[in-house]
Amino acid sequence: MDITLIGVVGLGLMGAGIVEACARAGFDVIGRDINDELVDRGMNRVKGSMEYAVKKGKLAQADLDAALARIKTTTALSDFKDCDLVIEAATENMALKKTLFTELDAITRPDALLASNTSSLSITEIASATERPDQVFGLHFFNPVPIMPLVEIVRGLLTSEESLEAARALGVKLNKQVVFAKDNPGFIVNLLLVPYLYDAIRALENGVATKEDIDTAIKLGLNHPMGPFTLMDFVGLDTCLFIGDAMYGEFKDARFAPPPLLRRMVTAGLLGRKNGRGFYSYN
Ligand code: 3HC
Repeated sequence: MDITLIGVVGLGLMGAGIVEACARAGFDVIGRDINDELVDRGMNRVKGSMEYAVKKGKLAQADLDAALARIKTTTALSDFKDCDLVIEAATENMALKKTLFTELDAITRPDALLASNTSSLSITEIASATERPDQVFGLHFFNPVPIMPLVEIVRGLLTSEESLEAARALGVKLNKQVVFAKDNPGFIVNLLLVPYLYDAIRALENGVATKEDIDTAIKLGLNHPMGPFTLMDFVGLDTCLFIGDAMYGEFKDARFAPPPLLRRMVTAGLLGRKNGRGFYSYN
């Protein structure tokens, strides 16, 4: 399958990043969100990120212009009818994703591939909402998508070898390093990341050290770009909680059980950078 036209469902942080990465790699892209305001917000994100890349000398102005010209937007899923691949990056909600995949299954060509950027939900279950589970797989990108060099390709129980090969070829064209994982909660990265992040919160709750010192220790002691609290604020505390709830729901393993402080913070509306306050404050 030769992929040239890619549809992206959802223009939030991840969806906008996927649109940008695909357009910069030369693909024609249609980005869809549910209303004009969200579409505009997503496209402003795409433009802002590419303008920053130009400022940093990572992208030529002519390539920015060419990439923008390859992007179309819509609020109608039916505009995906000619897409070779649709990547879903909507809210992490299984019922919503299944509804979307049933609709995409009806709208897209029978040979089109369908992927989900889910970080924690089952690809096999999402694929069960379609009549083409062999053409459904996970494409798990990392935030910020245009910069982070990895994509995890997730194989559902019924995903075909042909679909996985198309996913691998796409990853290479996107300039990403590709790794394959089976449809196991958390795949590779979140399987290891979530217990680490939660252990940082538990260390804080137990008074081992301040959040600043834990962040400094990990940043300088392990050469990580961000300590765990800065990273959780960056990812979004609601997302960190959702992933843990999903993984604990499947494994019933205490390592994946969200610490009470995380749940309290999300309940209090402290979501991290996205709304100005999480473990740290952002102005
Ligand atoms: N396009 C291309 N390059 C860009 C760019 C863009 N839009 N924006 C920035 N860059 C380049 C910069 O030029 C710079 O390159 P250089 O190192 O050669 O100078 C590099 O990217 C870093 O950019 P900045 O200097 O602006 O920013 P920082 O140095 O502060 O790094 C960061 C920012 C990349 C976010 C870094 O802090 C980082 O890597 N943090 C960790 C991010 C992470 O772990 N993400 C994964 C989260 S988990 C996830 O997403 C999975 C989910 O399921 C939870």
